[in-house]
Amino acid sequence: MKLIYFTFLIVPAALLCLGSGNILARAEEDELDDVVDIEGEDNQVVGDDALVDDDESVVKSSQDIDTTILFTKPVPSLGDLTFDIQAGYPVEFFVGFINKGSVDYVVESMEASFRYPMDYTYYIQNFTALPYNREVKPKQEATFAYSFIPNEAFAGRPFGLNVQLNYRDASGNAYQEAVYNQTLNIVEVSEGLDGETFFLYVFLGAGGVLALVAGQQALASLARRRSPRSVSQPVETGTASEVDYDWLPKEIVNQLSKKISQDAEAVAARKESKEISRRRLRSRLKL
Ligand SMILES: *[C@@H]1O[C@H](CO)[C@@H](O)[C@H](O)[C@H]1NC(C)=O
Ligand SMILES: *[C@@H]1O[C@H](CO)[C@@H](O)[C@H](O)[C@H]1NC(C)=O
Repeated sequence: MKLIYFTFLIVPAALLCLGSGNILARAEEDELDDVVDIEGEDNQVVGDDALVDDDESVVKSSQDIDTTILFTKPVPSLGDLTFDIQAGYPVEFFVGFINKGSVDYVVESMEASFRYPMDYTYYIQNFTALPYNREVKPKQEATFAYSFIPNEAFAGRPFGLNVQLNYRDASGNAYQEAVYNQTLNIVEVSEGLDGETFFLYVFLGAGGVLALVAGQQALASLARRRSPRSVSQPVETGTASEVDYDWLPKEIVNQLSKKISQDAEAVAARKESKEISRRRLRSRLKL
């Protein structure tokens, strides 16, 4: 029984201590992340560099090309201009590329990047430039898939997401198109079972089991207290007819038994005398 108490009381407590340690560690981590964010990511371009990089204004998109974007994960709710993406979970989308012109186009690559929402020339993070190198003939279209995972440290802040498609035409002119260029929110997903709730459930479970054990114990002791009485009852009814004189002093018992035997003798004598008188009566009647 002690082992059970140990299992359900000590172990969860120890786990909780460990768990809270973990939570503390996580909180510290978060703080660190914040500090890092303020200082800037390692791979981040300093504002001046980004400003110098003026390629975007030089490279334009082609008139022949139409592009569309479709997010498949997460699915933006209709009519929502800014939508939320989940930190730490993959974001997936398809980009449709339609060649309305009369020359071939080659889609070279697509890249996504997070920008500072107040200043889109300020890069926060670049994602992989996926190389496709796919030829799209005139009057044809193609679809390109891309996915990335926003860093969990970015949760709770708005970011400018820029998805850029790089392509060139048959004569080698390079083009760029911002397929998606909008601010969105990165939200933290509240998982169904984080550390705190998990240990809460563990504790509730342990409490339940403890209550069950205590109830079972109480029932057992109640039954134990009741069962001897129920066993002795028939014995008592048995002794009820025959009085127990054990507790009386010997002399009194002797006196009592003497008296009882005397009574019995007296009764017997009376019976006999009655019988004798009856016999006498009968014999007299016969006569
Ligand atoms: C992100 O990409 C842009 C454009 O290609 C480039 O100028 C910048 O240096 C890159 N930044 C990082 C941090 O890689
Ligand atoms: C993206 O959007 C920002 C803000 O709306 C704008 O300043 C920037 O020029 C846009 N970039 C492109 C390539 O369209």
